[in-house]
Amino acid sequence: MSVRNDPLAFLSAEVEQLREQGLFRHLRVLEGEQRAATTFDHRQVVNLSSNNYLGLTTHPRLRERALDAVRRFGVGTGSVRTIAGTMSLHVELEERLAAFKQTEAVVVFQSGFTANAGTVSSILSKDDIVVSDELNHASIIDGCRLSRAAIHVFPHKDVERARAILRGLPVGGRTLLITDGVFSMDGDLGPLPELCALAEEFGCIMMVDDAHASGVFGRNGRGTIDHHDVHGRVDIQVGTLSKAIGVLGGYVAGSRALIDFLHHRARPFLFSTSHPPAVAAACVAAIEVLLDEPEIIERLWDNTRFFKAGLKAAGFDTGASESPITPVIAGDGARAMQLSDGLFAEGVFAQGIGFPTVARDRARVRTIVTATHTRDELQFALDAFSRVGRRLGLI
Ligand SMILES: Cc1ncc(COP(=O)(O)O)c(C=O)c1O
Repeated sequence: MSVRNDPLAFLSAEVEQLREQGLFRHLRVLEGEQRAATTFDHRQVVNLSSNNYLGLTTHPRLRERALDAVRRFGVGTGSVRTIAGTMSLHVELEERLAAFKQTEAVVVFQSGFTANAGTVSSILSKDDIVVSDELNHASIIDGCRLSRAAIHVFPHKDVERARAILRGLPVGGRTLLITDGVFSMDGDLGPLPELCALAEEFGCIMMVDDAHASGVFGRNGRGTIDHHDVHGRVDIQVGTLSKAIGVLGGYVAGSRALIDFLHHRARPFLFSTSHPPAVAAACVAAIEVLLDEPEIIERLWDNTRFFKAGLKAAGFDTGASESPITPVIAGDGARAMQLSDGLFAEGVFAQGIGFPTVARDRARVRTIVTATHTRDELQFALDAFSRVGRRLGLI
């Protein structure tokens, strides 16, 4: 019997390198519900790492609706949407989302990632151009690469540089101008009014990924298009059902023609099975909660202001965040992981984020407060940040 060399040995070497650099992470395991205070890796912690902005992952109305859908429709759909996997629940969800977002139509994807990647890669081809903020989400970047369009990246939020790129392009081509509504690692907002004006001036398609804005910004959480009042000026809005909505999925909101086109060309929609009934039903219930219980969003913002003020007062570098996402910048990756580990030992879970998610010298701990954190929990977390931050010389 011949001894076969491990063809994946190079991967072990890379993983070993991560260990040596202090960058290896094991996956923390959540042992209860996704809540503001919960148990990870057998430790009770204040949880500052989830995107569960409004606490909807455990909201009774969503839970009941999901259980009811399981009883009435079963647990799976057994098909992709375009063959036999479109249930009345999916259609209801899309109609509710379109009304909520004030667009003609919506299509739901399996995730925000597939919504972005599937949309960008299907509407553009190799003769087209995309002009993209340097900090746009990975799913946008992958969609751009898959499309084979020419990619031009402008420095973060730098509208003048975006304008200079657009000025240099050949006249008459098809160009997509794309930004996140809220940037996921820094918590700052895309300059939508200025970018919409640019798109209008240069005849671009304007697209916004509002994954972290839905349920957080705008009236009843309608997102940054509503927050900036640029309704009608953004051709393609992407949102996610996996963060503030508390469930799973992504969606594209726009014109009827856009949605009809995506039904026929967006590859994740065509080639991957649709959401189980419980997911679609819980998402419908979440939209109802946004409309009926706007006080939850107010609580999120009260908590956000309190926590940000506490971090700033302690002397941390919290970047330029304008949202419930607040980064605590630590510098290099190993330092960020030490901060995260130190906090965990003190009963606070705030995940360390390093390269390639953020630049090598801007590694950080990213915090997200939710509407369901109590003031005591947030104060407990602030005290832990101060102790560990001082120990590491960050403040
Ligand atoms: C800005 C942004 N867009 C898209 C996504 C993807 O959303 P989902 O988790 O629903 O796939 C994320 C989540 O990581 C995100 O932060």
